[in-house]
Amino acid sequence: MKKSTKLQESTVPEKIQEKGGLTPEVAKNVSLETGVPAADIYGVGSFFDLLSKPHLKVRVCTGLSCIMNGSEELLDLAKKEKLPAESCSCLAACDKPVAVLKDRFVLPNVSKENIKSAKGNWKNLSSDYLNEDGNWFGHIGVYKDKPLAINLGNDPAYKNNAFKKSINIGADGILSELDASGLQGRGGAAFPAGRKWRSLLDQKEKTRYVVLNADESEPGTFKDREIILRRPDKVLEGLAIAANLIGASDVYCYLRGEFQLPIKILNKAIKEYKDRGSFPNINFHVHEGHGAYICGEETALLEALEGRRGMPRLKPPFPTEVGLWGKPTLIHNVETIACIPSIINNGGEWFNKLGITGPGSKVYCISGNVKNPGIYELPLGVTLDELVNYAGGYIGNLKAFSPGGASSGFLPAKEKNRPLDWKSLSEVGSSLGSAGVVVLNDLNSMKKAVRETLLFFENESCGQCAPCRIGSRFQRESIDRYIDSNSSNDLNLVDDVAWEMEQGSICGLGHVASVPLTSARKWFPEDFE
Ligand SMILES: Cc1cc2nc3c(=O)[nH]c(=O)nc-3n(C[C@H](O)[C@H](O)[C@H](O)COP(=O)(O)O)c2cc1C
Ligand code: SF4
Ligand code: FES
Repeated sequence: MKKSTKLQESTVPEKIQEKGGLTPEVAKNVSLETGVPAADIYGVGSFFDLLSKPHLKVRVCTGLSCIMNGSEELLDLAKKEKLPAESCSCLAACDKPVAVLKDRFVLPNVSKENIKSAKGNWKNLSSDYLNEDGNWFGHIGVYKDKPLAINLGNDPAYKNNAFKKSINIGADGILSELDASGLQGRGGAAFPAGRKWRSLLDQKEKTRYVVLNADESEPGTFKDREIILRRPDKVLEGLAIAANLIGASDVYCYLRGEFQLPIKILNKAIKEYKDRGSFPNINFHVHEGHGAYICGEETALLEALEGRRGMPRLKPPFPTEVGLWGKPTLIHNVETIACIPSIINNGGEWFNKLGITGPGSKVYCISGNVKNPGIYELPLGVTLDELVNYAGGYIGNLKAFSPGGASSGFLPAKEKNRPLDWKSLSEVGSSLGSAGVVVLNDLNSMKKAVRETLLFFENESCGQCAPCRIGSRFQRESIDRYIDSNSSNDLNLVDDVAWEMEQGSICGLGHVASVPLTSARKWFPEDFE
């Protein structure tokens, strides 16, 4: 589809959504309205889960934490009860399993009773909606009496002083605080924020954008949801500081489409700031995703924002050089941005010293076999044992854990005292990723956990490059065959395929899609004999 070069109010995916989802009639009408060929409209609409099957109103999460809590049985029951239901990938509500999507709204803690009381009508399906006020477990961001960077415990005295201070200290002041803070991106890659901001300022092009990545779809991860719900003030102030520094007048916030409540809260906060005249000259735009994990990858996100299928671009050039509509773009994860006001207010050194083994505090998500799954802001580098202590303790005997979402694979119980930071976890071939920690006790089957994680990557591959498209299916089919046959011959080729995928894939999804299998075979050989 032809690249657009200007800001558009309503993109093709939005037009399809406005008309109720992709049908032949809708494709024809959107084509007439936009002049884009119907085949291209189909290409875009069929790419996104929430657009491609408008008749599906109930989606049951079959991500790992939900499966561990019986989501497969729940899905079978929903189908038996004649609800228009299908499985879906993680809904970023792993702390409240089983999560179910009703239209575009996430229903947490759905039980068999909830399904039965709907009596076959999806509109009747209900449980407690996610809400802003309570109904969650979390650590409010105070450690040993010291406040941490984000402080999810909402502090009404907070006055957004950092924006004013950032203007007073100017670009050099902001950049030197950012460097001193050691802040690394919280979206998974841990790239130093200071270096990213500097590289953007080096660009000759003066039209620049800031983009907030709130696509949060890595299984096990649900921190950005809660940061937006509880601290939209810090998110918007962080964005405003960044936009003011780089001279961007437009800030795009990309939230996954299943985040209807965070979308509402963010829009409300934007309106309040606008009414008060805060952050003058900055326009915030809230953009709703349409259901595709890959759109969390920064260049896929830019493609989706521009109204096309979310297929990752080749890098370089990086978004800081050629980003949204070809202009230099600063793109950050929600947590990274929410750290900025405290860094400006309290100084980079202050932030740096908050961590135990690395700079700053970190928002950890924990789910699976623990008593109080939730979001815990703690110093960077706490161990699994310490984190689980905050989460009320283990349920059963720890067997394995996934420290940073599906991409980080699995580690054995003996690593429970290893600091949960990027460096320490990379020493054992894993990663902190987005800090979506999932705990598995010895009642879980590693084969099943691996199989479901591989299926996730197969389903979410955008299909653009062969190693990932073919490889992710091959890995899942291999484990399926192995589960059926129990013959390790069926796993003979998986290491070679993993290498091909790591070497030949365009983006991070293909690079890590084999990690669940390779890590489980490495650490749990007895489960794969
Ligand atoms: C497959 C894939 C999915 C990703 N999903 C997300 C996501 O949901 N949220 C996010 O912030 N970053 C995600 N990332 C990382 C982004 O590409 C990018 O590194 C990040 O938005 C940069 O922000 P940061 O520097 O604040 O971490 C993903 C990367 C890959 C390869
Ligand atoms: S690695 Fe996978 S997800 Fe990434 S561009 Fe290639 S096919 Fe798409
Ligand atoms: S919401 Fe189900 S696994 Fe995340």
